[in-house]
This record gives sequence, C-alpha cells and structure tokens, in this order.
Amino acid sequence: MDENIVTAIGTPNMALIKYWGKREEKLILPMNSSISMTFDETFNTKTSVLFTDRVPEDSFYINGVRQDLSDKDIMERFAIIDIMRRMAGTTSKAVVVSENSFPTAAGLASSASGIAAMVFAANSALKLGLGTKELSIIARQGSGSSCRSLSGGFVKWEMGSKDDGSDSCIRQIAGPGHWSDIIDIVAIVSKSKKKISSRAGMKQTVANSILYKARPAYAERACAEMEEAILKKDFERLGMLMMKDSNNLHAVMLDTYPPILYLNDVSKQIISSVSELNEVENKIVAAYTFDAGPNANIFTLEKYRSKVEELLSNIEGIESTRISKVGNGPRIIDEDASLIDPSTFKIKSG
Ligand code: DP6
Repeated sequence: MDENIVTAIGTPNMALIKYWGKREEKLILPMNSSISMTFDETFNTKTSVLFTDRVPEDSFYINGVRQDLSDKDIMERFAIIDIMRRMAGTTSKAVVVSENSFPTAAGLASSASGIAAMVFAANSALKLGLGTKELSIIARQGSGSSCRSLSGGFVKWEMGSKDDGSDSCIRQIAGPGHWSDIIDIVAIVSKSKKKISSRAGMKQTVANSILYKARPAYAERACAEMEEAILKKDFERLGMLMMKDSNNLHAVMLDTYPPILYLNDVSKQIISSVSELNEVENKIVAAYTFDAGPNANIFTLEKYRSKVEELLSNIEGIESTRISKVGNGPRIIDEDASLIDPSTFKIKSG
C-alpha cells in the first residue's frame, strides 16, 4: 500500500455536561449525552501515523516511550487502529508516535486529544475519506470522551439509542467563532497520575452508587438547556449548569463504594472561592468544572478575566494556570513536522 506518514494535531475538550457511565462497555455507548468545548492549541497532542509492510509489528510511542501493546489499557485504545485497518482492507503494520504538550493522565483529557489526532491522521494515511461523524464513532470506541475532540467549537456527543452505536456520535452545536470572549482558565493543582482511571471509576459508580440512578435523566435535560445557553451565549446559565453538573459528578463519585475522590483541598478551595466571588458580584462571573482529577477548569468571559486571575493568584497550591479559548478541532500538519523517521520507520530521535 501507499506508505505515507501523516501528522495531525488534536486538542483536548472540556466537558460542561459530563459523560460518566457506559450502557455498553465494548462499543463504549454512554448512559447520557454530553457537551464540551474543544480547546485551542494551548494544549495539544501531535500524532504521526504510518501504515507499512516493512516493519514486523505495530509500534506505539507516547512522549518518547514505547507502549506495551499487550497492556489491556493500551490495547483497548489502540483497537481503533484495527477498526480503521479493517475498513481500509489492509493488514499493514502501524507506527504511531504521539507527543503531548501537557501532563498525561492528570484529568486534562490527554487521551482525548491523542485519540482525536490519531484517528484524524489515520483517516488520511489510509485514505478512508471519512467525515467527522464517522470519525467520532471510531474515536468513541477508543475512549468515549475523545469523540468530542473530532470537532472544534462546542460539541454534543449524542448518546444514541441503537445497539450497534451507529447513532452515538458527535454534532457541533456552534463553531469556534461563535463565542470568542469565553475562556477556560486551567488551574494545574497536581501533575501526578490519577489513582483510579475514569474507565474503572465510572464502572464502579454505575454498579453501586445509589445517587447515580438519577444522573442520566438529569444530564440529558441539562444537555438540552446547555445547548440553548451556548446558542444564546448566556454565560450565567452556562456557568450555573456546568457547576451543578460538576458537583453532581463528584457527588456520585463519592457515593460510589469504595468512594472515588478526585478533588483535593486546593480543588475545594477553588470551588469555595469561585462561589464567593459570584456571591459578591451578585451574578455568575466564573464557573468551575472538574473531570477525573484535582485540576480545575474555570470558565469566564474576557471582561472578568483579571478579576478571576486575581482570585486564583490568592489560592495557595495552584501550581500554574493556562488559558484556552474555543479551538478549531484537529488538523493535518506539514510533513516536516513528522515524529516518524521516514528511513527507519521508528520514532525520530532528538
Ligand atoms: C470525567 O472518556 O476517559 O472526563 O470511555 O472509559 O475511555 P473511557 O472514559 P473517558 O472518561 C471521561 C470522563 C470525564 C467526563 C467527560 O469528559 O465527559
């Protein structure tokens, strides 16, 4: 087959209404729809993909480290390469090299940007010509939340109802230019790897949290309201909905046995300080949300930015902050930027 190295850049997404729980494990079908904002390239993953018959086996590198493809976690995510190979009717081996510009596995959705970049690059390398919806269905099977990173702007992952997952795919609610003054201040509280993965954590929550039973129906309604808030650029409504959803998520996590605790004292201080600020201002000027980790995402508008930055600068324990605006989604970049050496088919050194 045609052997060309394709490199793509993907970015994470931050869920405003979260996905937490599967109704089907293998295909990764969620219990409820979710909505996110795709990040700009402040945080990004660059991934180069090559399909070739000239190497004996698949290889996969993340941040310079060769991954063990017999490891269950890695295998489950790499399975999307098999799906795409099958679609292309090839048995060529894959070389995939991925580099993150931010800490992995610390609640910063590194797998989302990595998988989005990988699927986007593989689509081009295998000349599959698939569109966003089809690519989101493939990405979903590697890691659920990653499917939302296949599009820029504000994105809804529709839970779908079909058993084969063909309607569990993404839809863009609004493009990247729709809301240019909304920003996400990412406050890094800890760079360490999370103790329990989202995959394992959500499974336990679905299995034994009493409170979780109310979550899917509520989240579905929250998605409808969130979509309206985004379309109307109603920040107060968006803020209230996202904070309530984050609170609900971490409540059902705590209600799981053994309890799942991702928030630490600094995260809780951020929750209190943001709430106090909104009280003092008598309106919502900032809104927090937390994924499966202690790092905070604080959404605000440009006009309130200095106020929120000042607030955060007074909280002890925040290691650093970075700002993301609404991003454009994945893109293919120049051949020169490739992470694969075209003569050895291995990761480029240096
Ligand atoms: C808290 O997408 O990582 O970030 O589908 O098992 O790979 P798997 O889980 P994953 O879970 C993400 C959970 C979340 C919420 C969200 O992004 O919607």
